[in-house]
Amino acid sequence: MEFYKVARSGQVPDGVVRRFFVNDIELAVARWDGEVYISSNYCTHLDCLLSSGHVTDEGLLCSCHGSVFDFESGEPILPPATKPIKMYPVREENDEIFVGLEPDAAATEGPKRRERLGTDI
Ligand code: FES
Repeated sequence: MEFYKVARSGQVPDGVVRRFFVNDIELAVARWDGEVYISSNYCTHLDCLLSSGHVTDEGLLCSCHGSVFDFESGEPILPPATKPIKMYPVREENDEIFVGLEPDAAATEGPKRRERLGTDI
């Protein structure tokens, strides 16, 4: 696993989730109570972008249908999602945020619904 720079720390203030790309992988980068959490940007319910959601007391809220995902585990806390979102290792050093990715992550990560449909949106 290698760590890649995602953003400057100041780009993700507390209580905010934003979208970033690293090696074609779309990530949701959130900060809650000072800690940075990085997940896939795709909700496991119907692939809505989690970067369009909100940071809440319970976890990361998908704004489409209200699922909430635990920041640590990615497990859904509130339905309709039933599967966890993928969480990535995070480092924050010298005012920069880094994400840990496997070498083949770009080939295996992405929106599952689009894969099923065989489309390249
Ligand atoms: S797409 Fe996220 S809750 Fe439905």
